[in-house]
Amino acid sequence: MALITFSNPEYKDKTVYAVAGSFTETVLKIAKTNKIPINFDCQDGECGSCLVKVTKLNDTKTMGGPLTDKEINVLLQMGKITKDEVDTMAVDDFPTPYRLACQMVVRDEELLVEYNLD
Ligand code: FES
Repeated sequence: MALITFSNPEYKDKTVYAVAGSFTETVLKIAKTNKIPINFDCQDGECGSCLVKVTKLNDTKTMGGPLTDKEINVLLQMGKITKDEVDTMAVDDFPTPYRLACQMVVRDEELLVEYNLD
């Protein structure tokens, strides 16, 4: 079970349970299911409009499933991740705070997800 707190200064924080383990539930899907007003457009890891900042609230090593290739490309273009970080992640499963909600699949973990970033 994943516990996700969605946070944005314009709205009340909302914490939701999500079924993890199936490795199919994206952060965007969970947000939409729970009526979180998160920005999105393509839903396919190409536009970057669903950018979120993720913080781990428990002591699991990882944070969400691995980044998709599309996600890496968009985050690089947006300057939210560096090539060095991408290389480190490949070796270390290094968690990066910036993710695309439509690409990030949750695991059994507690996360704070800040959405609709400026
Ligand atoms: S909605 Fe376009 S990248 Fe997520």
